[in-house]
Amino acid sequence: MFALLVIIALVTLLVWHYLHMRSVARKFSSQGIARPPLTLPIIGDSLLFLGLSRTEFPIRLKNLFERFGNVYHAWIGPYSILMVADVNYYKVILRDAVSKPYITTYVLKQAVGAGLLVVAGEEWRVRRKMLNPAFHIKLIESFIEVFDEHSRTLTQRLQQHADGKSTFDIYPFISDMAVCTIFETTMGFKPDPNDLDFRKYSSAVHDFIFNESERLVKPWLLPRFAYYMLRYRNFKKSSAATAYMRDFHTKIIRKKRQELEETNNNATQTGDVDDKVSGPKRQNFLEILLTSSIDGKPVSDDVIHDEILTMVMAGSDTSAHTLCYVLYLLSRHPDVQQKAFLEIFSLYAIDSERSITMQDLSKLKYLECVIKETLRVYPIVPFCGRVFDEDKVVGTVCLLTIFFFYCF
Ligand code: HEM
Repeated sequence: MFALLVIIALVTLLVWHYLHMRSVARKFSSQGIARPPLTLPIIGDSLLFLGLSRTEFPIRLKNLFERFGNVYHAWIGPYSILMVADVNYYKVILRDAVSKPYITTYVLKQAVGAGLLVVAGEEWRVRRKMLNPAFHIKLIESFIEVFDEHSRTLTQRLQQHADGKSTFDIYPFISDMAVCTIFETTMGFKPDPNDLDFRKYSSAVHDFIFNESERLVKPWLLPRFAYYMLRYRNFKKSSAATAYMRDFHTKIIRKKRQELEETNNNATQTGDVDDKVSGPKRQNFLEILLTSSIDGKPVSDDVIHDEILTMVMAGSDTSAHTLCYVLYLLSRHPDVQQKAFLEIFSLYAIDSERSITMQDLSKLKYLECVIKETLRVYPIVPFCGRVFDEDKVVGTVCLLTIFFFYCF
């Protein structure tokens, strides 16, 4: 009897989903929007991505745009998605979308916590307003010495391996530099890349990104139970990495909180609460979180942890991979490398050891073009997702329910 009920429920679900898919497909095809053939209930067009590796996934996405046009409709599992690679739509998408697709936020939430990247709507607005001072250009410019110092450490570490004969993987070195820089600029905590605890933290970040990114391109690994059953080793590694990172952040949060309390106590004792002459010191990301409130309550340790994790994950992997691709492309184009080298040499010919300044950076126009071209050829974040709460007409063509866009 129970088995019969389950079968009836499954068949009803399949028929309902089939009818739903048909009505959505009609809406899009009546506007001339193409879609892949052979869509199946529940799994949608996922078969198009079956068996692809992480590197093949974005290439397949790009091929599908070539096949079906810059705007096409697809089903990723049971989710209806409009794929868009047309700049004319981006303004409306970014302006009017109300949230982010469940399919990406679900994985991101497990990967980077419920920080700025994941939260949407009013929650995002409140957090973003609170954290805006941490993204102020003046604050970022004030970190130029930190960038200089960590870049020097990186080149010294690379020099030990660059014998002109052997090959080696530069990513771990560049990633260390990115994580160290983010730690120091966002939390005021100076990590030593050779310190054992920091080494463990850095490899936890790598393990975590490597294991979790697979789930973004293999939707059947999304449910935690499926991940546990089908990728037990990765699941264990990823969970251990999360626990280590959380523990590491907790220690930093505790230390910083104590430091702030001591500073406040000292300031109260000396009466030096607001220094009007030199102006108040700009707070870093962690200080802002520790001294702010949401709905009249201090920001919880869980929210602080999620925001730190978001900064470390969103900032380190993206900038480290971009830098690797910049170096890779320069190595493949010696003429471009020579021009970039001469531009840098023109600034440092007299004193090659002097520290870099913001004025120097503004003069490195050719290098800036190299970085921008690298981001175009190898976009580290090749797609973003957005959701509308109602159908929307854009131009003369589209009614949009769920929107996913792609900028290759
Ligand atoms: C080449 C380097 C980078 C690229 C290509 C990149 C790309 C992106 C993209 C496309 C988004 C929007 C995602 C969305 O809304 O769905 C984003 C958001 C974000 N990124 Fe980056 N990023 C880079 C570097 C960094 C760095 C260095 C940091 C921090 C140290 C950072 C922190 C963030 C944060 C916190 C958000 C969420 C912002 C918000 O929603 O208010 N990113 N990034």
